[in-house]
Amino acid sequence: MKRNLYAFWAMLKEMVEVTKEKDPALRSTAEVLLYPSFWAILSHRLAHRLYRKKHFFLARLISQLSRLFTGIEIHPGAKIGRRFFIDHGMGVVIGETAEIGNNVMLYHGVTLGGTGKHKIKRHPTVEDNVLIGAETIVLGPVTIGKNSKIGAGSVVLRDIPSDVTAVGSPARIVRWHREQQEAEVQTRGKQILFSGKKAM
Ligand SMILES: CC(C)(COP(=O)(O)OP(=O)(O)OC[C@H]1O[C@@H](n2cnc3c(N)ncnc32)[C@H](O)[C@@H]1OP(=O)(O)O)[C@@H](O)C(=O)NCCC(=O)NCCS
Repeated sequence: MKRNLYAFWAMLKEMVEVTKEKDPALRSTAEVLLYPSFWAILSHRLAHRLYRKKHFFLARLISQLSRLFTGIEIHPGAKIGRRFFIDHGMGVVIGETAEIGNNVMLYHGVTLGGTGKHKIKRHPTVEDNVLIGAETIVLGPVTIGKNSKIGAGSVVLRDIPSDVTAVGSPARIVRWHREQQEAEVQTRGKQILFSGKKAM
């Protein structure tokens, strides 16, 4: 019991930290209570526990009540990692077999939905550190690789690799971040060599 309370308190603290980190508009800790994301994620943690214990009706009830108050619909079956944040929130839909890694950020209107063609794993997998812009639709059991960004208003129907920015409908890759990082490291390396400074 004491351990559960401690874990719950740690989770709340982390949610406050994440909100502060992701939304520069936040002025005080108390304001976190006014974020739909806070209530939607909290309700989902409870609903998902009930879902795993096969209390399907109760789990769905909590999820639908949360949707009523926050405008964010997360199916209780969806698996969501730590440090998840939804900015604004209204209109977000996350399907039953969706899987979301750690430190993922969604904006309002994002759908992680099914195409209607797939039976078991029907919804997307979103890996760690992904950002998905407002009103983006991701359909089917596709994977968005870690550290990638999807531009607002995109439609994703195929896998997106890690470390890229993809935009448009259908989404296409416009930037490879790893190549960019490698190029930066090389240029900085050269600068260090030419300036005669030793690398650390
Ligand atoms: C995609 C995004 C994450 C930026 O990623 P980034 O890696 O920093 O990429 P850049 O901004 O440098 O853009 C890369 C290219 O994609 C284009 N682009 C960026 N976002 C786009 C979008 N939503 N739709 C179409 N093209 C877009 C840029 O114009 C740029 O093109 P260029 O290279 O020809 O100039 C950002 O533009 C975005 O859409 N964020 C979501 C924010 C949001 O939803 N806000 C709602 C607040 S209420």
